[in-house]
Amino acid sequence: MAPSAASFLVLKNIRKSYGDHAIIKGLNAEIEKGELVSFIGPSGCGKSTLLRSIAGFTKLDSGQIILDGKIVNDDVPHKRGTGMVFQNYALFPHLSVESNVGYGLKILGQSKAQIRDRVEELLGLVHLPGLGKRRIDQLSGGQQQRVALARALSLNPKILLLDEPLSNLDANLRVTMRAEIKRIQKQLGLTVIFVTHDREEAMSISSRVMIMTGGLVEQLGSPTEIYDRPATEFIAGFVGHVNPLEGNVQSVNGTQGIIRVSTQLGPLEVFSNGGDFQTGEAVKLIVRPEHITICASQSPAGCTGKAPDGNGQLVGQVIDAMYTGSIVKYNVSIGESKLIVEQYNPRECGVFSDGQRISMKISRDVHILRKGEAA
Ligand SMILES: Nc1ncnc2c1ncn2[C@@H]1O[C@H](COP(=O)(O)OP(=O)(O)OP(=O)(O)O)[C@@H](O)[C@H]1O
Ligand SMILES: [Mg+2]
Repeated sequence: MAPSAASFLVLKNIRKSYGDHAIIKGLNAEIEKGELVSFIGPSGCGKSTLLRSIAGFTKLDSGQIILDGKIVNDDVPHKRGTGMVFQNYALFPHLSVESNVGYGLKILGQSKAQIRDRVEELLGLVHLPGLGKRRIDQLSGGQQQRVALARALSLNPKILLLDEPLSNLDANLRVTMRAEIKRIQKQLGLTVIFVTHDREEAMSISSRVMIMTGGLVEQLGSPTEIYDRPATEFIAGFVGHVNPLEGNVQSVNGTQGIIRVSTQLGPLEVFSNGGDFQTGEAVKLIVRPEHITICASQSPAGCTGKAPDGNGQLVGQVIDAMYTGSIVKYNVSIGESKLIVEQYNPRECGVFSDGQRISMKISRDVHILRKGEAA
């Protein structure tokens, strides 16, 4: 996406090195007002470096950070209109909650009464009313997280930057706090960038997800775009399970938008989704476990496990079944190939057991990538 001055936050050709180690390598991205965008990517890909650069704690080598129409590269952090929550919260442990939350307001020279009123308002917002006099080391992890949020919001930032804010919390609290962040974001109409290692967290609360690798954006899109139409095989596997299937385009039906692909499972038909594919082209199919429906248990005589007529009908054998209540996850072998299949209606069809032969159908909705894109 080409940067334009119209977006609320524009990151334009951002570069940052440490010594001769290039960390951010000419990154471009745009974020709109009121969005909650998650940054995810492998450890060391530059997420924190980018976030700290936006906040003003790390100086760029080159490029521009344009926030609300203004280039903020040379502005000090508290003059940028950014609020940041660090992974370890960076609260002052020996100070009270109200001293922590009101810290920035005090530096700005606000009166005691102004600070008291604003701190009380912020503590109400993060659901910690009346806890102002407590010391930080007398709070739980979740409460400290709320204090860090209140402090980051104290100066009414244009954009809230959260660097793995939930990573110190246990699984249940993480789910509660991510809902809290979403509630506060909606209530204030805030623009938020949320760095996380947790893909489910990113997918569940974000308007868009930005996947970074090696200091660049690999894809920036809505959670459904990222999951259903991943730009690369890496992204497909990063955000969910994939059964990758190599193949070659056998024929293209332009009117119906259907492509017939020869694969090791036999010919399969898939939707082109506007992609311009040529006969003979090498492709990769991104088959998600839920693209495969188990039709019925059967064991037709002489079945080879190949799709007979290109409509995605397959016969395989259950290697093992993992029952989790609402879904059953199967490892299935089809000839030499192995697939992971999810069954969402175990009560209707019953649970198939190890060694049982099953019939399956692959949906035409699977995503198709060019061989070059799949790399
Ligand atoms: N102050 C620094 N001096 C030298 N190298 C640094 C510095 N800060 C970060 N790096 C290096 O820059 C690279 C990117 O680091 P960064 O913290 O941005 O990664 P990240 O994507 O946030 O990773 P994680 O998911 O583990 O938090 C890493 O190789 C890291 O070692
Ligand atoms: Mg980091």
